[in-house]
Amino acid sequence: MNVLGIESTAHTLSIGIVREGKVLSNVIDMYRSGNEGLIPRKLADHHANVFSDVLVKSLKDAGIAMEDVDLIAFSQGPGIGAPLSVGVGGAKYLASRFDKPLVGVNHCYAHVKISEHLCRMHDPLVLYVSGGNSQILRADSDGYYHVLGETLDMGIGNLFDSFARAIEMKEAHGSALAKLAEGGKYVELPYTVKGMNLVFSGLLTAAEKAAKKDRNAAHQRDVAYSLMETSFAMTCEVTERALFLTRKKHLIACGGVAQNRRLQQMLQTMCEEDEVEFGVAPDEFNRDNGAMIAYAGSLLFKRYGPTPPGKCDPITNYRIDRMKEIMG
Ligand code: FE2
Repeated sequence: MNVLGIESTAHTLSIGIVREGKVLSNVIDMYRSGNEGLIPRKLADHHANVFSDVLVKSLKDAGIAMEDVDLIAFSQGPGIGAPLSVGVGGAKYLASRFDKPLVGVNHCYAHVKISEHLCRMHDPLVLYVSGGNSQILRADSDGYYHVLGETLDMGIGNLFDSFARAIEMKEAHGSALAKLAEGGKYVELPYTVKGMNLVFSGLLTAAEKAAKKDRNAAHQRDVAYSLMETSFAMTCEVTERALFLTRKKHLIACGGVAQNRRLQQMLQTMCEEDEVEFGVAPDEFNRDNGAMIAYAGSLLFKRYGPTPPGKCDPITNYRIDRMKEIMG
């Protein structure tokens, strides 16, 4: 079965094609917002402008035509309404034009499932870290994911982007901040963990204040380094607590921030000490990407069949722990 997956929840428009668990194509076009943050209208315009080129390239890379697609999967949420609507609208149009079934996919579930598949891990504990989310997840015996702990304010990626904007970086993005932080020295910043939950707003305020005290480049680097170290240490602490509670012997990190090598290294060290196997998918699949939507769509289609036409609208606040209510 050839499954075409469309991703459009935030800054990225991507279309991927998957056949029986094998990724045939994964074309990714990310909108670069510089330092102005994510403006919904601009994201939607970008996705509408590149949609057709991304679709044509994805089909070409996979070596198939639209007629050969058996199922269209689309990211249904959570996400930003305007860009999400472009992907959902595109999916609905293609389904009706080529008479294909549609399946709506929870974006977080797709990150988790492609990572489990590529890391060949069954039923691991999952750390999901991205711009909008920071959650520790566990599946129940029916395969529905529950949130054991999460951020109580902002996602860890949003923490990095907000700090990068505050210190006026040209590319206000976590990956640029990680480069700036290289070789920094630790300065003390607040560390807030509540059980298996995280709080980042106090850390952000303190880091912004510290950065504004001294505009010297070396000091900015030290604060950036300390912000990342502190937030990663907090993330490791809550993850380790969840590992002990669940007695899981496998851990996966997924989502955009899971690409960060320092976080990967800290989680790897923690897992070695706790005799837990750690897995993380290649970067391409931790970015927002269409292949993960196609892969997760194939799983959901097998279990639930097509999503009825009246249930194919975007769900901007579609938490992973609402899947039973929405799909079931
Ligand atoms: Fe994502």
